[in-house]
Amino acid sequence: KYLQEDDITLECKELIQTLPMEKGWVSTHLHQYQGFWQTKKHLQGVLSFQKHFQAHDTDIILATSPKAGTTWLKALIFALLNRKRYPNIHDNNHPLLTTNPHVLVPFLELSLYIEKDILPDINSFSAPRLFSTHVPYKSLPKSIKDSTCKVVYLCRDPKDTFASMWHFTNKIRPQNRETLQLEESFEKFSRGVSLFGPFWEHLLGYWKESLERQEKVMFLRYEEMKMKPCFYLKEVAEFLGCPFSKEEESKGVVDDILNLCSFEKLSNLEVNKFGKLPSGEENKAFFRSGKVGDWKTLLSIEMIERLNTVIEQNLGKHGMSF
Ligand code: A3P
Repeated sequence: KYLQEDDITLECKELIQTLPMEKGWVSTHLHQYQGFWQTKKHLQGVLSFQKHFQAHDTDIILATSPKAGTTWLKALIFALLNRKRYPNIHDNNHPLLTTNPHVLVPFLELSLYIEKDILPDINSFSAPRLFSTHVPYKSLPKSIKDSTCKVVYLCRDPKDTFASMWHFTNKIRPQNRETLQLEESFEKFSRGVSLFGPFWEHLLGYWKESLERQEKVMFLRYEEMKMKPCFYLKEVAEFLGCPFSKEEESKGVVDDILNLCSFEKLSNLEVNKFGKLPSGEENKAFFRSGKVGDWKTLLSIEMIERLNTVIEQNLGKHGMSF
């Protein structure tokens, strides 16, 4: 679906005139709003989300940088919260078997609040309402910060995040536009010019909050989740106030959820092989290799050194490394 001028509110158009601008990855331009980079259409969604969203104390917000493993996190937490409703995962009636995780757990700014002049009817959602966002912590609506709603943040090694983003971007770029050059995208990413970037600011915002308010923000890493999925799923369940009972553990519920949400299982479902999101992207674009360290097949030695330096300069002093 191509963006028409009429799809954008006057408020957004006027704001854009005042913002720093760069050439975009998929859309023609990115605009820097409150320190992070955004397309015109998504900026409108961000503005509406910031203005209208009222958090409930029981809400759960999944926050990620694009390509950090959002699809996986959505699937896991949807299955976790709905395990009583769909106790028999093998019964073929689980929504994840027929519906993409992005539909089951909608993005606030990229989906629910994206349409001009149309506000979503989310008050009728049953508690706990489960949403997702890519918006940096400091730009989240005040009601999220002030309420007791919980935030689960997932980050990923920026080298893998970049590799994933570059592949994804080339898949979803309009066919009449040439392939995005690796060097050009890499240069932008390293300067922080990527959707919702700079990546280090995104990460740090949630990281700091998770240290200051441990009951509010849980900070997860893709690589660790891959290594110890069972441990982290149980941690998330505790954090969200719905721990697994001994009986559930002995019945294998934790493993059932992990298997249902595994890359192999989800990526091979009909819906994820052939379906499309309402926003137009093919579901299969969200499943590529699902590996840790795939950047080694893409980045040159110079690129690895450069990105490692950017990571060290921006995250090292905060005790974070990849
Ligand atoms: P790769 O491109 O490295 O394979 P997002 O969901 O934030 O858009 O991130 C997409 C990345 O998560 C892709 O990484 C994708 O393959 C991976 N991914 C998708 N589903 C996954 C799953 N169930 N388990 C692990 N990784 C998954």
